[in-house]
Amino acid sequence: MIVIRKGIRNHGELMNTIRNKKFYITTPIYYVNAEPHIGHAYSTIVADVIARFYKLFGFDTFFLTGTDEHGDKVVEAAEKSGETVKSYVDRISNTFKETWPNLSIENNYFVRTTDSKHIEVVEAILNKVFEKGDIYFSEYEGKYCVGCERFYTDTELADNKCPIHKTELRVIKEENYFFRMSKYQQWLIDFIHENPYFIRPERYKKEVLAFLKDPLEDLCISRPKKRLSWGITLPFDENYVTYVWFDALINYISAIDYPDGDSFKKFWPVAQHIIAKDILKPHGIFWPCMLKSAGIEPFKHLNVHGYWNVNAGKISKSLGNAVKPLDLAEKYGTDAFRYFLLRDMVFGLDSDFGEEALVNRINADLANDLGNLVSRSVTMTLKYFRGVLPEGDSWREEDNEFKNAFMKIFDEYELFMQEFSFHKALITVWNLIGIANKYIDTMKPWSLAESDKERLGTVLKNVIEAIKVTSVLLWPFMPEAAEKIQDQLGLELKGFKLTLEDVRQWGGVKQARAISKAPQLFPRVKFERRRDEAEETEKNELLSMEEFQRLDLRTGIIKAVKKIHGSEKLLELTVDIGEIRTVVAGLANDYDMDKLRGKQVVVLANLKPAKLMGIESSGMLLAAVDKSGVHLLIPDAESTPGSKIR
Ligand code: ME8
Repeated sequence: MIVIRKGIRNHGELMNTIRNKKFYITTPIYYVNAEPHIGHAYSTIVADVIARFYKLFGFDTFFLTGTDEHGDKVVEAAEKSGETVKSYVDRISNTFKETWPNLSIENNYFVRTTDSKHIEVVEAILNKVFEKGDIYFSEYEGKYCVGCERFYTDTELADNKCPIHKTELRVIKEENYFFRMSKYQQWLIDFIHENPYFIRPERYKKEVLAFLKDPLEDLCISRPKKRLSWGITLPFDENYVTYVWFDALINYISAIDYPDGDSFKKFWPVAQHIIAKDILKPHGIFWPCMLKSAGIEPFKHLNVHGYWNVNAGKISKSLGNAVKPLDLAEKYGTDAFRYFLLRDMVFGLDSDFGEEALVNRINADLANDLGNLVSRSVTMTLKYFRGVLPEGDSWREEDNEFKNAFMKIFDEYELFMQEFSFHKALITVWNLIGIANKYIDTMKPWSLAESDKERLGTVLKNVIEAIKVTSVLLWPFMPEAAEKIQDQLGLELKGFKLTLEDVRQWGGVKQARAISKAPQLFPRVKFERRRDEAEETEKNELLSMEEFQRLDLRTGIIKAVKKIHGSEKLLELTVDIGEIRTVVAGLANDYDMDKLRGKQVVVLANLKPAKLMGIESSGMLLAAVDKSGVHLLIPDAESTPGSKIR
């Protein structure tokens, strides 16, 4: 029996019990109306991480990404750029395609909706659904957002505007073809209830079910060519092109050779999609209904993540606050960038992107915890054993605990990864890194080197073994670093890298070469604010004249002084500032009570009253504070209490 720690919901089986070892993962296909930004990078890196995770277990995996190239939005962008639509889509699609390898993303195929193979499949599906009687012709009037490429119902609008782009919608009235989506509403509701992890995390399943509470409208799936000609012509009416979403969703099966290709047969039954919450409705509702109508089994899981926000707003090409992923990867390294994205976003929730947070992660988690573990272990192995760990063994009871911490991690790691809880999987791995660093601190190999060389050998062997396991668990996230570590350890590998099977047995993989010294994996980095940001901060820190003038500073005379029971530092002062105020001040250590009486002072009079030791204090005395103590500010000539300070 598997005992799973509280907090892990079991979305699957343990990997080594799964017989059909196949895995298919997709990202959204991105619109080519602008270049890739950090949001696209996140979805695509997530797909890469999960595909690599399945590869670690020997799965036959297929990872698909690509570009969505039809529709009004793309035509508008092409017009703006002054290029023909075709040359524009070729250019931007290529930018996406070329970006991914630079982020260590290894997709198996890159689909484009302008590919002839894709177009043929869209036509085949349209014909199938049409012949089934699920497509009809009718007139429609609705509010359309070009940014989203879809009609909105009144209830979905925010202030009568698009809830995502905050723009006015176009009212469009025209004759079109419609897909009888409403026919599949009840089937979809039942299907979601029967398959509780079909849409995950839970919050998005709930969102879809909430949407399905109201009657579903049929889906307008065509655009008249006189309004838009850049699209796939309907096979049953050449005056219309296919609505971009009906076309785009089909990429998930056209790319794997629907209907007769081997890939389709092999991978469709295990298909999983990754999307962000912006496109939940097309994926959670349109797509399953389209599949059902076309007689194709639904996909296995729809994995929905939140938004990366920059400056508290969603990153958007139209808002112009996109963070270029390649710039960051180049500046900080691909692995660090991948690690940060996966570690700092809880899959399903929104996250704020900040370069400073990225730098902090690099320094704390990568340079400090992981980097130090590897570098000090390697250095000691080289120093004490010239990089070759000795054969002898002096195993002790405390080593069992250490070894077990690593050996029992696999199930937990697997289940977290299967349910897309990447940050939890990483926290689990970092706990292990912490355990390994602590083991070194407790065992003190540097002292053993003086007293017990055999024991030293065992301790270092354990540490190196721990690093092996860690490198395998980290490989999906940081492939380059993981492979570098494995290379440094000089292991006897069957392939070029370790698999999970290799490390399931403690000490199972032998050394083939001596351990070697390598440059630091993750050097520490410094955060430098961009110039414009620094200036902005500086501006924010300066007080405006208006702000200064809001301070009500006045002279005053201390009339009475009382000790406050229970406090050594605080005194209760009665101060005349043109009116009588009670002020609590921390002066008892620096002034005799007698000397305070009658003293002139400077008071900030419009400070919000606060209770200190049960006494309400209304105002604050100004003082200079340095190492020698507190020195009250005093006007250099006698002034009338309540005189304004300007
Ligand atoms: O919607 N945070 O394409 P798209 C996180 N072509 N992820 C983000 C993000 C952000 N701020 N911004 C974008 C389309 N994404 C359609 C898809 S699929 C058949 C058709 C990611 O270029 C996220 O994956 O607008 C989101 O769902 C996707 O990019 C939208 O990309």
